[in-house]
Amino acid sequence: MKNANRSSRIAGFHKLSVDQRVQAVAQFAQLSEEEQAHLLNTGNLPADMADHLIENVVGTMNIPLGIATNMRIDGVDRLIPMASEESSVVAAVCNAARQCYDNGGFITSMSGTLMIAQIQLVGISDPEHARVQILERKQEIEQLCNECDPILVGIGGGFRDLEVRVLPTASQTMVITHLIVDTRDAMGANAVNTMAETLAPRVAQWTGGQTNLRILSNLADRRLARARCVWRTQDIGGDAVRDGMISAYHFADADPYRAATHNKGIMNGISAVVLATGNDTRAVEAGAHAYAARRGHYGSLTRWEVTAEGNLVGSLELPMAVGLVGGATKLHPTARVALKILGVESAEQLARVIAAVGLAQNFSALKALATTGIQKGHMALHAQNIAMMAGANGEEIDKVARMLVQSGKVRLDLAEKALTELRNG
Ligand code: MEV
Repeated sequence: MKNANRSSRIAGFHKLSVDQRVQAVAQFAQLSEEEQAHLLNTGNLPADMADHLIENVVGTMNIPLGIATNMRIDGVDRLIPMASEESSVVAAVCNAARQCYDNGGFITSMSGTLMIAQIQLVGISDPEHARVQILERKQEIEQLCNECDPILVGIGGGFRDLEVRVLPTASQTMVITHLIVDTRDAMGANAVNTMAETLAPRVAQWTGGQTNLRILSNLADRRLARARCVWRTQDIGGDAVRDGMISAYHFADADPYRAATHNKGIMNGISAVVLATGNDTRAVEAGAHAYAARRGHYGSLTRWEVTAEGNLVGSLELPMAVGLVGGATKLHPTARVALKILGVESAEQLARVIAAVGLAQNFSALKALATTGIQKGHMALHAQNIAMMAGANGEEIDKVARMLVQSGKVRLDLAEKALTELRNG
């Protein structure tokens, strides 16, 4: 087998510099000088900063950053930075926003900035008794949690509530403590995980059980961002378009196979802003999908209805654990610029903007799907990607892409043929 003798055991790899790691990887994978130089060009994220964000860094992965225009949110016009490798995602937000701009745009709200940390207690013969024992200590728990993070308390955050659940599982009945903490402008993972880890030995001591996991829940259902918007029927192409979109929504809400794709489209918009602002895309995605299944059936994250006036109204509600401090948000220079472009002043404002983007994205996907289909809109950018894959450069990209779109077939072999023809005059 090719490469069978190469070893992935590289002792001390983590202790090497970025340059030395690239050399080690180059030796392993026979990277050319050019490929090594490519890795070492880390663009607008300095290599030493990248090296401190994650482990074993050998480069950076650049993703296009686009700006969605036309967004009016709670009466304020905003430009939205979106990081995505997928064509049509930015255009979808611009189009949806243009069609509701004259009607006032998006209205948003938020349930609060509360995160949940879980402590798993096992080995309990009397779980109901243990539950009450923990609840009795609420004041002491509040004090212990707040002592973990005086800075958070100083800016108005900290412990807010205590919940204890008795949870039957495959192995035994467990007692699950939820610490509910206001993390304000931080996403809050570090704050709540520290509190859970600090509190766990006390929970074990009070109840006589053993604690196991101590970690936040990504189902941040006390940190819900909401957006709503009315699109006037005359602005979206008439009653038939509206009804087609409503029918598409009913399909998604009834069928998990469709709901997964419908919600993926929503996350196309959401994850792009989450990433552009240096937030944790996986945390937001996990929260969104868990929330979509909260009724015991995986359904649509959005709701679509017809108003008394006959217009189309969409709403979206989902957990949105994003912050302005902590993680890469403050460190990554592009995230900092993205936040400045957005002009948000709190994690709550950011979360609300992101919810509006998700709703806009879903509007455009449903409209395209219920009318011309998704391929027409995708075609132009997709054709450019294929032209680039065929080796087109500069002006050739547009020319080859146009030839593909005109032929109605966007295929790599045809792009290569078109490029050869173009170059041979
Ligand atoms: C593609 O990335 C997203 C869509 O499939 C979303 C949807 O079907 O609603 C277009």
